[in-house]
Amino acid sequence: MTIHSRFGDSTLAFLRDGYAFILRRSERAQADVFQTRLLMLPVTCLHGEQAAQLFYDQERFERRGAAPARAQKTLLGEGGVQGLDDEAHRVRKQMFMSLMTPERLRDLTNLTTTQWHASVVKWETQTQVVLLDEVQDLLCRAVCRWAGVPLHGGEVALRTADFAAMIDSAGAVGVRHWRGRLGRARAERWAARLIAQVRAGTLTPDQASALHVIAHHQDVSGALLDERVAAVELLNVLRPTVAVALYVVFAALALHDFPEAARRLAEGGQTARKHFVQEVRRFYPFFPFAAAKVRQDFEWHGHKFTRGQRTLLDLYGTNHDRRFWGDPETFRPERFRHWNGSPYTLIPQGGGDHFQGHRCAGEWITIDLVQNALHFLTDELEYTVPVQNLRMSLRRFPARPASRLVLSQVRRRA
Ligand code: HEM
Repeated sequence: MTIHSRFGDSTLAFLRDGYAFILRRSERAQADVFQTRLLMLPVTCLHGEQAAQLFYDQERFERRGAAPARAQKTLLGEGGVQGLDDEAHRVRKQMFMSLMTPERLRDLTNLTTTQWHASVVKWETQTQVVLLDEVQDLLCRAVCRWAGVPLHGGEVALRTADFAAMIDSAGAVGVRHWRGRLGRARAERWAARLIAQVRAGTLTPDQASALHVIAHHQDVSGALLDERVAAVELLNVLRPTVAVALYVVFAALALHDFPEAARRLAEGGQTARKHFVQEVRRFYPFFPFAAAKVRQDFEWHGHKFTRGQRTLLDLYGTNHDRRFWGDPETFRPERFRHWNGSPYTLIPQGGGDHFQGHRCAGEWITIDLVQNALHFLTDELEYTVPVQNLRMSLRRFPARPASRLVLSQVRRRA
């Protein structure tokens, strides 16, 4: 099956809509920058490696007030690291990055492995499982344990559902948007209670845990974070880790859709697995763009940027930029054998520097967890993919296969 048939009715529709919006316009105009209106608002759109480098220049762009209000009510929350600039951002970002040591990453992978084993025991008794739902559940258990967040047995479903609703509300209107708002409101109240308990000394998570670190973090002013903001930041660790389930589903989909790549993966070692995961992150859609505002007037490639202008960087389209990737619509993990590692070409989780800029704090977690999942899917498990609706629309944010990927006859490999 080709990418075009999976992602839409025709190549044209695929190129015209949704995730491919900026990519299509840029290619047609042969310009990495153009001005348009989106949801009634004027925006400047940036596409490609050079434009990404520009976008992460903090002299030229800032994040204050850049995130759409609807996303703040659902996906992101208010007062979090995403909307900070300069020293305030660097201090807050350091809090997140201090959780990303090799030891702590290994701990999370180990906790996740335990959850995979427990899930497999359950799956073996079921005729079929919905992979997206199952992996969200197991990642929720693992990341809460890792973050020092107590989860009672009966609570797992509720928390997982709230995280899933927040993730699924990104870019949604109507019922999905409101489900996301409700999920966020409930999760923030819960997270704020946890922060309060830690500060009161009635809950004592491990000192290296996210809950402890966030509850005791001192902001740029030297004060503890406001309880509500601390709750938002705790959710900024838990929610996106649950969101990694989507990449696990994409990895499973790639194994199913691209048997040649799956075969080469089976023959390769650790490096082949790493390249496979990079290609999953490059190939499949997740966040379409990142948003910022122009900090001061300047000109680039003949285009005038004026202070306060809303600007979108094309994440999906830059991962599919044929000038750099050559054959972006082909799933080909081997391309990463020769990738130069530029921080501005593979940008599903943002570009630039993790510590200095807004690049995703959880990128290493994401890569580790998807690699671990790939190990389970290929080496530990046997399963079949029954006939189902795997269609994925590039007009839905976030994109996902309609069936959420059903697996049947899941067994441990003998
Ligand atoms: C920021 C994507 C997983 C924590 C971001 C950004 C993107 C992104 C696009 C914004 C970059 C920008 O504004 O320039 C993703 C994707 C993930 C993922 C696709 C996989 C599902 C994670 C995980 C964590 C995490 C596992 C934490 C454990 C964060 C934080 C920020 C962020 C804290 C804000 C960084 C800042 O503003 O400085 N992510 N992310 N993400 N991500 Fe992720």
